[in-house]
Amino acid sequence: MFITFEGGEGSGKSTVIREIARRIEERGREVVLTREPGGTPISEEIRNVILDKRNTDMDPRTEALLYAASRRQHVVQKIIPALKEGKVVISDRYLDSSLAYQGNARGLGMASVFNMNLFATEGLEPDLTLFFDLEPETGIERIEANPDREVNRLDLEKLSFHRKVREGFEKLLKENPHRMVRIDASRHLDEVIEDVWGHVEKRLNWR
Ligand code: TYD
Repeated sequence: MFITFEGGEGSGKSTVIREIARRIEERGREVVLTREPGGTPISEEIRNVILDKRNTDMDPRTEALLYAASRRQHVVQKIIPALKEGKVVISDRYLDSSLAYQGNARGLGMASVFNMNLFATEGLEPDLTLFFDLEPETGIERIEANPDREVNRLDLEKLSFHRKVREGFEKLLKENPHRMVRIDASRHLDEVIEDVWGHVEKRLNWR
């Protein structure tokens, strides 16, 4: 069981993910919690290069290739081994982020970014993807209100960029109704958790 969480910045994903992982473990299933870009030492090193605030001159294709390289290592070294052991893998972001950010927002095209990523993922698709949907304005406000959060290069993008990210996820939602659900992330955290939990329970055949 491979579950991914997607969405724009400041959507509260990380907090919800921790609670969902806790509930699954409470039911006796082992969970591997991971994130992209990152998840393995090599992937984390690539993450540092991508998100470094000094790298403002990074070419969009370089960026897309680095995300895919980081993903490749993550898939091979962490995700697939855990799935083979019957664990539930939960990833904070995966391929859909590349399609929305690099494909749609950066303008590389969702189809080309998808094809390039096939080389990295060999077609590994999540069983369930929770798309945390939020007005970009609200997301940015939430990030700015959180003093503990380190601001990265992508947080510094303009509002129009974040609108295109959201539009990218909307397209993905339409194309992938078999695995992708929209979660209204503007609600109170408790409500969001219950909504997500309902989808996870259903997918795990627990209700
Ligand atoms: P992170 O600090 O993990 O952001 P968040 O808490 O919002 O998940 O930074 C990851 C950033 O990288 C985020 O802005 C989304 C972006 N990203 C891409 O542009 N493409 C990708 O393929 C992935 C995985 C992330």
